[in-house]
Amino acid sequence: MPVQKQSKVAIVGAGSVGTSLAYACLIRGVAREITLYDIDTKKVEAEVLDLAHGTQFTGSSIMTGSSDITTVAGADVVIITAGAKQKPGQTRLDLVGVNVGILESLMPQLVELAPNAVFVLVTNPCDVLTVVAQRISGLPPGRVISSGTVLDTSRLRWIIAKLAGGLAPTSVHATIVGEHGDSEFALWSQATIGPIPILDWERDGERPFTEETLESITNDVRTAAYKVIEGKGATNYAIGLSGARIAEAIVNDEHAIMPVSTLLQGQWGIDDVAISTPVIVGANGVERILDTPMSPSELEKFLASAEEIRSTVRSVS
Ligand code: 2OP
Repeated sequence: MPVQKQSKVAIVGAGSVGTSLAYACLIRGVAREITLYDIDTKKVEAEVLDLAHGTQFTGSSIMTGSSDITTVAGADVVIITAGAKQKPGQTRLDLVGVNVGILESLMPQLVELAPNAVFVLVTNPCDVLTVVAQRISGLPPGRVISSGTVLDTSRLRWIIAKLAGGLAPTSVHATIVGEHGDSEFALWSQATIGPIPILDWERDGERPFTEETLESITNDVRTAAYKVIEGKGATNYAIGLSGARIAEAIVNDEHAIMPVSTLLQGQWGIDDVAISTPVIVGANGVERILDTPMSPSELEKFLASAEEIRSTVRSVS
């Protein structure tokens, strides 16, 4: 991807997610400058060095960073990964207390340094923190968004592609919507493999996708992070790639459709809740929330998911 001249992506937090995000941005050549900020000077300087040392092999992005927050100045995209992460058995919503506090101290400084940026919350619970960050910043809702279920949708497409007989995940058109969390669900009514509705897909003369299979796949997606966290302590690579893809769509003004989480303002009768549905992403963040069709049971799940997020937002307001 040719790098946009003088484009800049700032990543806040040099933990495993932030550094994986930076690494993915470098490899995909997301922007001219990728900068990393963290309060831990020793850590962030070492991470920046280690990333910069490999830039002969990546695109024309340059790697910078510092424990001085002014390193984010003038960024087009600011991706926030700082905060506590889930421990085995913890839900994402459990993190809300400590991470709201971090956001309240960071957001005003970040907005002052990068007033024209699109802010992407990755820190969990990302939907709740998006509502909080938008309120603190006072920015237009489309410019304070979250990675939401972009990652979960990638997990879903990988599982389906494998079960379909080893297809390319990019040929699977299925989406996870709702909370980036335990109440998320798949929009099976819209799911196709290439042009084929998922239930009609045939593999070796059989139809591998039944109602029971779809339920089991949804559960596998919903519990994917817990499984990875149990095994290696955190997730980082797939969320890093997801965040880099979102940043790319913003920097290149792609008008790409993806399920980032954004504040609803009356859609489906929902206000003041950030939640994932397919939206158009471009230079100004979320440019349009699509009126995605849902079956009656999907709408019920969606409203329930929105209520999960709303009640947690209320608990920190
Ligand atoms: C994930 O889903 C933990 O939210 C993170 O990988």
